[in-house]
Amino acid sequence: AVAEMRGLKKGKLRLTVATTAKYFAPRMLGEFSALHPGIEVSLKVTNRQKVLDRVAENLDDLYILCQPVGSDEMVAHPFLENLLVVLAHPDHPLAKARNIPIERLASEPFLMREVGSGTRMTVEQAFASHGVKLNNIRMELGSNEAIKQAILGGLGISVLSSQTLGEGPGEPVVLDVVGFPIVRQWHIAYPAGKQLSVVAKAFLEYLWDKFIPPAQTTPQSLQAVQDK
Ligand code: PGA
Repeated sequence: AVAEMRGLKKGKLRLTVATTAKYFAPRMLGEFSALHPGIEVSLKVTNRQKVLDRVAENLDDLYILCQPVGSDEMVAHPFLENLLVVLAHPDHPLAKARNIPIERLASEPFLMREVGSGTRMTVEQAFASHGVKLNNIRMELGSNEAIKQAILGGLGISVLSSQTLGEGPGEPVVLDVVGFPIVRQWHIAYPAGKQLSVVAKAFLEYLWDKFIPPAQTTPQSLQAVQDK
């Protein structure tokens, strides 16, 4: 009976996600749509700052991002890890080196995401916290995929989510740098005080079933959902 009720849910789910979530969010939407054929889904992919702008304007039902802002503005639950790794061309001289000190990267040609990217923010914080200045920013690029291709084109190294890496040859390699990977969390979020639609609650419930072990306490905002 519960399954029938689920299948009967109708409406539209508007989801906006930060860029790297494009490597998993569409598949999640596929599974969710199979559970809820009556629900129409739309997905927007943009950088962290633009996600935050959309949260402020209350333009979507739910958001996926790393590093949410404070609870005054946003309710956010972590559900999945996002590891940032140092990527280089497979022929890079450091490709086989072990325990590379982060200082060693200071003068490497570096490919940087655009201002507004959460990846960029984390990279800047990580290097600053080690007192290392990246003094050879070779290029600024507005897409993880473009950065990957630029690495393969020999333009430099970068720090990106491991989720950007595909299988097999022809991919950048991960350098073994001390202090990496940087572990971040993907969060599902919505504006503080927002009244969630039935459809948005159905998506939270789906995420919880998929990612959160039953032993873990359900956050309060989800208890109402699961009690139904
Ligand atoms: P972004 O991705 O770099 O495109 O903003 C989200 C993040 O990893 O914070």
